[in-house]
Amino acid sequence: KQTKDSVTLSWSSGRYQLRVWRSPFRLEILCEQELVVTFNSKGLQEIYHTLMEHKTSVIEEQSELLYIILRNTCCAFPGPSSVGADLCLHGFRHVYGLPEHSDNLQLRDTRDGEPYRLYNLDVFAYQLYSRLGLYGSVPLMVAHKPDRTLGVFWLNASETFINIQYSPTDHQVTFDSVLRAEPQTDVHWLSESGVIDCMVLLGPSPQQHFTQYAQLTGYQALPPLFALGYHQCRWNYIDEADVKSVDSGFDRHKIPYDVIWLDIEHTDGKRYFTWDPVHFSEPTRLQQHLEKKKRKLVIISDPHIKVDPHWSLYCEARDGEHFVKDREGQIFKGSCWPGNGKPLLFNVTTRAWYSRCFSLDKYKGSTPSLFVWNDMNEPSVFSGPELTMPKDAVHCGGWEHRDLHNLYGFYQHMATVEGLITRSGGLERPFVLSRSFFAGSQRLGAVWTGDNVANWEHLKISIPMVLSLSLAGIVFCGADVGGFIQDPEPELLVRWYQAAALQPFFRGHSANVTNRREPWLFGDEVTAAIRTVIQQRYSLLPYWYTLFHQAHTSALPPLRPLWVEFPEEESTFSVDSQYMLGGALLACPVTEPGIQEVKIFLPGSGEIWYDIRSVQSYEGGRTLSLPVALDTVPVFQRGGSVVCRSVGSCSCTAELHPDCNLLSLQGIADGELYLDDGHSFRYRDEKAFCLRRFSMLSGRLYKGMQYLKGKASPVFLLSPGTKDISAAFQYMETCCKLTVNTGNLRVAMDWEIQIG
Ligand code: GLC
Repeated sequence: KQTKDSVTLSWSSGRYQLRVWRSPFRLEILCEQELVVTFNSKGLQEIYHTLMEHKTSVIEEQSELLYIILRNTCCAFPGPSSVGADLCLHGFRHVYGLPEHSDNLQLRDTRDGEPYRLYNLDVFAYQLYSRLGLYGSVPLMVAHKPDRTLGVFWLNASETFINIQYSPTDHQVTFDSVLRAEPQTDVHWLSESGVIDCMVLLGPSPQQHFTQYAQLTGYQALPPLFALGYHQCRWNYIDEADVKSVDSGFDRHKIPYDVIWLDIEHTDGKRYFTWDPVHFSEPTRLQQHLEKKKRKLVIISDPHIKVDPHWSLYCEARDGEHFVKDREGQIFKGSCWPGNGKPLLFNVTTRAWYSRCFSLDKYKGSTPSLFVWNDMNEPSVFSGPELTMPKDAVHCGGWEHRDLHNLYGFYQHMATVEGLITRSGGLERPFVLSRSFFAGSQRLGAVWTGDNVANWEHLKISIPMVLSLSLAGIVFCGADVGGFIQDPEPELLVRWYQAAALQPFFRGHSANVTNRREPWLFGDEVTAAIRTVIQQRYSLLPYWYTLFHQAHTSALPPLRPLWVEFPEEESTFSVDSQYMLGGALLACPVTEPGIQEVKIFLPGSGEIWYDIRSVQSYEGGRTLSLPVALDTVPVFQRGGSVVCRSVGSCSCTAELHPDCNLLSLQGIADGELYLDDGHSFRYRDEKAFCLRRFSMLSGRLYKGMQYLKGKASPVFLLSPGTKDISAAFQYMETCCKLTVNTGNLRVAMDWEIQIG
């Protein structure tokens, strides 16, 4: 439709409309006739380049996703410039995302101070509740209201600022006159260079929003199963004997774990891809020792190459022109751990070269059970402005660093991942942890929240930080357990293990000047509490792995703010101390010292929640006061769900007992289980996986319960082609818990349990 002032485009049989106004220029997106977003509502759209020829507007439409690309057609010009635009999100009063900041889950109105900044920086012992940028950036904002989740993705890798204004303000809502005013959120984006490349994702459900975003930037890579186990790290384990003794400590104390990590001191003088000749003289032997127990080794590899003309890798990098240049065209020198190192470029050619450095024949002393950790890749430059690379450093093709700063770590991560995949002939899934990241890093592996501090506030903030990352697609994330800097008191350490065991990436790590803190060093009570929580993590791994399969195939994050599961319940919108783990478990880790009771909000009136420890049930739609001891980790299972667990003890993921313990908690319940070989791409290339749905049908269990009391053997196992067998069971009347021994029934077969 066209009028004198506007053109209206519509799609999906008129469900969606885009109205383009000529003067003043603005775009309106309408869903079912309701105005949802206005682009340039305040007229803040701007494109200032040092040289500007002309600009064009391209608007493309693809199902529920709208691309707005306002493109300056001239190529990149050196020097500062800026692009900006504003959007009004109509009806929204809650926005989230934009990691990485050490802040609440719900983003704050910025009128009282600084805008949110996206600029990847190495920030040691970062300040809490700050809007300054940390190690990674994802320019995705997620807005939510009861009937819609909406995303705004601003694809720009230069330094970016975002201002947020909620209306009416909290102050205004107290006045009657504006009580009925329609809420809105005004957002102003400003980037230092590039183009306005802004995508609006219309949802409307949280699930649809996640899928739309994944279609743009990629789905979470399916990690190898071991990567979901517990990781033990320290800067540094001193030598081979030290590593072996920590490794055997886990066995001695019956604490499962999968991976031990080596920090920078494992190298020969901070030359990555080498080994310290004294302390790690036999790296292959060490890896074989671990591999016999099905455990892995991870080593650190930063992007700074030590300047040493006698080192072949340095010479290759220099001769192959793999280093960033300064504005005068000389190789840029950027000090970091290797001293005066030279940061690598990560253009296509350098990535291919860097990937080859991980091949087993080139990387001497590496074996297939060695995996990688990319650090200091913001990049960190100790001598640079804000501890990073100057913006006028020059990358391949003349691109200034300012244009791609936030992408630097992403490309190192990508090259490392490609290196590990190629090393295995394309057969094995890689595991690479990166400190820096950008939109799409989920395709590559895991990230962590950097150099946190051993105090209660840092433990508390780790929850909204990993939730923000999860909302922005980076779902394989976690925080250093115990806090990287300083020494945690034992109570804090236990609480941190409890919280982190319920976060996707689970790694204990500590700085070089801290005291040793392996889980058995603080007395029996602490060892027992940590053992219990790590064992619980392992027993839930079938569930975690299934959640990662869901993230990989349908983009649902394993960790979900409560509102993702209860989108219509406004009381969940600001909660960030508790969250859902998948659709079935609600976690509320204890993050305060010395408390005897925690308040837990159980959402959903009509829902039933079961304390997974006591199996005690509670109705939803209320706040519960739960008494807690040092070993209490409040986790509740949602009525009607099936959660698959492993049973029995194990020392690492390779020993997980393949049986499952199904807990179904109402007349009707269902849930999924995903299984594969846990390490290769056969699930993808040969469809070698098993995905089972467990359902309990209405009424059957209830009737069974009535019957159970009088019958000798009322529980039958039915499976096609075999005789019905009566099964041994136990029934605990006090908590209505029925345990059935399913004997040899295999998860991959079709079967039924008939009760009564
Ligand atoms: C950085 C990392 C930290 C690592 C240290 C030494 O501070 O964030 O995890 O231990 O460098 O490599």
